[in-house]
Amino acid sequence: MCGLIGYIGNEQAASILLGAMARLEYRGYDSAGVATVDNGNVHVAKDKGKLADVIRECDIKTLPGQVGIGHVRWATHGGVTRENAHPHCDEKASIAVVHNGIIENYTEIRSRLSRKYRFVSETDTEVIPHLIRDFIDAGNTFEDAFFKATRELKGSYAILAVSATEPDKVLAARKESPLVIGLDHGSSFIGSDVLSFLPHTNRVLYLDDGERAVLTRDSVKIYDEHHNELGKKPTSVNWEWKQGSKGDYNHFMIKEIEEQPQVIRQALIQDNRLLMKMAIDILRARQVVFVACGTSRYAALIGRYAFSKIGRTFSDVIIASEFGYFSESVDKGTLVIAISQSGETADVLDGVRQAKANGATVFSIVNVVGSSLARMSDQVLYLNCGPEIGVAATKSFMAQLILLYLLSFSMDNSLSEGKEKLREISALVEADLHYHSLYIPAMAAKLKDKKDFYYLARGINFAMAGEGALKLKEISYVHAEGMPAGELKHGTLALIESGTPVVAICPTDYTYADTVANVMEAKARGAYIIGVSNVNEPIFNEYVRLSKVEEVLYPIVTTIPLQLLAYHSAVARGLDPDKPRNLAKSVTVK
Ligand code: F6R
Repeated sequence: MCGLIGYIGNEQAASILLGAMARLEYRGYDSAGVATVDNGNVHVAKDKGKLADVIRECDIKTLPGQVGIGHVRWATHGGVTRENAHPHCDEKASIAVVHNGIIENYTEIRSRLSRKYRFVSETDTEVIPHLIRDFIDAGNTFEDAFFKATRELKGSYAILAVSATEPDKVLAARKESPLVIGLDHGSSFIGSDVLSFLPHTNRVLYLDDGERAVLTRDSVKIYDEHHNELGKKPTSVNWEWKQGSKGDYNHFMIKEIEEQPQVIRQALIQDNRLLMKMAIDILRARQVVFVACGTSRYAALIGRYAFSKIGRTFSDVIIASEFGYFSESVDKGTLVIAISQSGETADVLDGVRQAKANGATVFSIVNVVGSSLARMSDQVLYLNCGPEIGVAATKSFMAQLILLYLLSFSMDNSLSEGKEKLREISALVEADLHYHSLYIPAMAAKLKDKKDFYYLARGINFAMAGEGALKLKEISYVHAEGMPAGELKHGTLALIESGTPVVAICPTDYTYADTVANVMEAKARGAYIIGVSNVNEPIFNEYVRLSKVEEVLYPIVTTIPLQLLAYHSAVARGLDPDKPRNLAKSVTVK
């Protein structure tokens, strides 16, 4: 949710910042802007629209100076307008600020400061440059004013600021919104994620909540909020930039879908002793609760069935934003398994904080190394699937499934056999990808005028119905609902009419007969059935053939055609699947 980048070095800042903003654009693409410092002046160029439009519309590329900050926005306070785009400045235009998060006490600060300074936007962010200016006017240096101003802010924030009066510094503050520093020789970077500066350096320093940073060309100093210096050591990340580039693909989403055979193999590379240790803790816990949002929650739902079927252990799944409402029943006998690609989803972090405060143990399944979730968990399993840039989660979902199966097999003491089965499936997935790509584009084009889709399944496949529907609606903008097939007759059947597409996920496993019976009920009301199964049924109008696998593993082979159907549906409708409207990849606001 909003991407920030700061740079100080010996090259033209604007071009470095714009490169980084392109890599951050998955976090927000309502507006974009840059501020640079040169020759005693702050230069700002910004506008609403995607980054490419903003670059075309304003003179952003040519901004002078070797120090600057950039921002891609996902609107929270105030509509999508040029005025609300970041950076925001003080009245003298000598301080520029970019921000990700929400300033909860902005109304109070704004009403106090608007007696002195003119506000030009509707954002919460604009209070920050005016507040810094107020402290400068009271006799503070820019750096001291920044510390004092940020101490007054309530809410969540990642903030970067530059000033014409102290031109050789980028200042930063973090509370509940990610910020990572990149260290290179003669230049320093600070961004919302490592990807933003990965082509330049992989030596990083993570800022923690409450910390501040002062970046110069050849030094980075980290402080607590009271300006006491902290000793922190840099680490290296093992991602390479080429993993995050689109190559010859039209979209990141299809590239990431196609990476999945390799993703499965990578996800299998885990420390067996750690898996076994975690499995024992899961088996011993008084209660096990998964906490996640969106696609990661659907992975958790599959994990829940796998824990039961393979690991013979009951668990529950709670949507992260609802988890806090169960705090009375969370205690030290509770094991929370938080699942998140980004490791920065505010709702998940909130739930985990709450769980820890109640004494629970927290395990996490995360992709982004060094993310906030990884750093606050007692044990972490990494997805190892490389950067995921497409806003819709695809390969991270696959890797999450693999890790949940690995934990389930560990709980059953059959980890080596389980790993072997999953390795074999990666070869099937490779062949399936090729096969499904031959006919799904035409199927998607045929369905492109349909407005409502229903995805039905039972048992472990039920979560696939939810995930398939989520994928379709978020990138194709059509209404889609996934549900346990048995629920259809309890209300939703009223919506089925002649030609309504029903995606029936019914491999010949323990759910088969009952699911097919429910699909018949839809067919009897005129539904157009897209059967997803390892056998073709006469009731299917379209057939998506699944490879035959062990029944508990069907979600793995079902994932591929459902992702492809969503992807090609978006393409057939002329939409950009990588940047769905109103969404952003890393949801760092509650
Ligand atoms: C859907 C999607 C979102 C995310 C959700 C959680 O395709 O990408 O629903 O799954 O925002 O994100 P993470 O996994 O980063 O916590």
